[in-house]
Amino acid sequence: MPSLLLKRLKSRRVSLIPEANGSVDFNHITTDGTNRCWYKQLMIDFWQGLLAALERIAMLPSLLHAVLPSLSSRKRGRDALRTYDRTMDDLLREIQCLLEAPLQSTKLLTMSASLQAQFAPKLQSSDICMLPSYNDKLPSGLEKGTYLALDVGGSTFRIALVELNGRQPGAKNMRIVTMKSYRIDEKVRQRSGNEFFEWMADKIQQALADPQLQNSTSTLSFPMGLAWSFPVEQTSIRSANLLDMGKGFRATEGLLGQDLSELIMVPCRKRNLPVHMDSIINDSSATLLSRAYEDPSTRFAVILGTGFNISVHLPVSSLATTKYKGYPKKWLDEATHVLVNTECSMFGKEIFPTTRWDDQLNDAHVRPDFQPFEHMISGRYIGEIVRLIIVEAVCTAGLFSGEIPAQLAEPYTLDTGTLAAMEMDNSKHLTNATALFQSKHPLSKPPMYNDIQFVRQVSQLVSHRAAAFLATGIHALWALRTETEGLTPTSAGQMSIGCNGSVIEKYPFFRELCQSHLDELAAASGAGPNAISLEIAVESAIFGAAVAVSCLEGQ
Ligand code: GLC
Repeated sequence: MPSLLLKRLKSRRVSLIPEANGSVDFNHITTDGTNRCWYKQLMIDFWQGLLAALERIAMLPSLLHAVLPSLSSRKRGRDALRTYDRTMDDLLREIQCLLEAPLQSTKLLTMSASLQAQFAPKLQSSDICMLPSYNDKLPSGLEKGTYLALDVGGSTFRIALVELNGRQPGAKNMRIVTMKSYRIDEKVRQRSGNEFFEWMADKIQQALADPQLQNSTSTLSFPMGLAWSFPVEQTSIRSANLLDMGKGFRATEGLLGQDLSELIMVPCRKRNLPVHMDSIINDSSATLLSRAYEDPSTRFAVILGTGFNISVHLPVSSLATTKYKGYPKKWLDEATHVLVNTECSMFGKEIFPTTRWDDQLNDAHVRPDFQPFEHMISGRYIGEIVRLIIVEAVCTAGLFSGEIPAQLAEPYTLDTGTLAAMEMDNSKHLTNATALFQSKHPLSKPPMYNDIQFVRQVSQLVSHRAAAFLATGIHALWALRTETEGLTPTSAGQMSIGCNGSVIEKYPFFRELCQSHLDELAAASGAGPNAISLEIAVESAIFGAAVAVSCLEGQ
C-alpha cells in the first residue's frame, strides 16, 4: 500500500466534520464525552447540584428515593434529553474524539510503560497468565516428519495431517496433506466436562477414516500435536492441566486442573484410535513455532481473531523460579530460554481508556474484566462495540430513521466480518456494503447512503483503535524482552513477529495500521528502522502444533 495513503488513513480515516464556523471545536466535549449547548449545560448543572445536595441529606434516604423514585432513572432521563437533540454529525464527532484521543504516540508510549509495570508481578506469580511452556529451543527449520495436528479454536476444531520437509530446495517446507474442519457451534460449546472430549474423539475418528489420510502414511500410531486456544498449565513435555477456557466453553466443568492429554486420550483409547498425544501448546505459541520454523529471527507471535494473545520467547530468568515448579532438573540446567504464553488479553485494565460503549460491553459480559485487552481489540468484540454505538445512534441521533435493524438489539449479533466487508467497499454509492448490511440486518426501508457511511466510519474508528492498542501491547512486550535479554532498543536488531487470526490477516488495513503505530513507538524508544515487522503466518496454529511435536522428538 502506498505510504501516503496509509498516512492519510492512519491520521484521519474519518474526516472530522467541521462545526458551522468551519473549525472543529473540541471544547464542547466534556469529560464524560457529552456534547451540550451552553444554556442546557447551565440548567443541567443547576439540577445536578440540587440533586447532589438532596442526595447528601443522609437523614431520610428512603424518603428521598420514594419522592424521587430513582436518581439513576432521572439521570437516564437527563441523558435522553441530552442525546435526543444530537445530529449524526455531532455524534460522529464525539465518537471520533473518544476513540482517537488516546492514539497519539506519546499516550500510547505511556500506556506501554504501564503495561510493562502490569507484566512485572505476573512474571513473578500468576497461574493464569505469563505461563511458561516446556519448549526452550525454537525450531531449526530442518525438522522433518509427518504428524497429526489438532487445532481447537473458539469456533472450529481442525484436524490435519501435516508434513514437515525441512529446508529443501524446490519443496515447500511445510505442507497440509489433508485437513478436516469441524464447526464448534453453541451446542458443542455447551457440552460440559467429558462430553466435550468425547465429541473431540468422535471427530478424530472421523478424520482418521479419511482414505486420503490413510493412504498418505504407513504409521501404526499417529503422533499428535495439539494447539489449544485457551490457557494451559504445562506439566510435562506431553501434558498440560486444563485451566479456565473462557469463550463460552463448558468443557472445564468438573475437570479444572485435570490432565488435558488424558482427557483427550481416554475417549480415543475407548475407540481404539491409533493416536498418541506428543505435545500440547497454546495456539499463540504454536504460531510462534511455525513462523520460527520458516524465519529464525522470530521471537514473538500474535493471534488476533476471535480471541487475542501474544507468545514470546524469553530468557528463563525473566520468570520467577516458582513458575517452573515440577520441571525436570535436566530442563532447568539446560534451558536458557522458554516459550511463554503471556495471555496478554488479561492485561490493560485501568490502562487503556474506555468509552461508555466499552463499559457497557464489560458490564454485560459473562466474565467482566477477565480479558479487558481482548474486549477492545479482538474479532469477538469489534462488532459488539460497533453494535452498541449503532444502537445508541439509532435511539439518540436518528440513524436508520430511528429503526433498529433486525437482530441488532441483541448482543453479539453484528459480525466483525460484516464490518470488514463493508469497509472494503470503495464504490461511489457503497452498493455492496448497503446490500450486505441489508441482507444481514434488514430494515423496513433500505438504508440510506449516509447511514451506511456512518457504520463504516464507526467501524474504521473502532478497528483503528484496536490496531493502535495492539501495537502498544506488542511494544510493551518487545521492551520487556529487550530488557530481559540485556539489550537496548538500538542493539536489539530486527525481529519478525508471526501473526495469525482473521482480524490481523483479513481486516482491511489492520496490519498496516498496527505496523505503522509500531514503527512510531519503536522509533520513539530508540530502535532502528524496521526493528519489528509483523509477518502473516498463514495456518500457523495447525502447522505449529506439528512443529511442536517435531521439536520435542530430539529430546
Ligand atoms: C484467548 C485465550 C488464549 C488464546 C487466544 C487466541 O484469549 O485466552 O489462550 O491464545 O484467545 O485464540
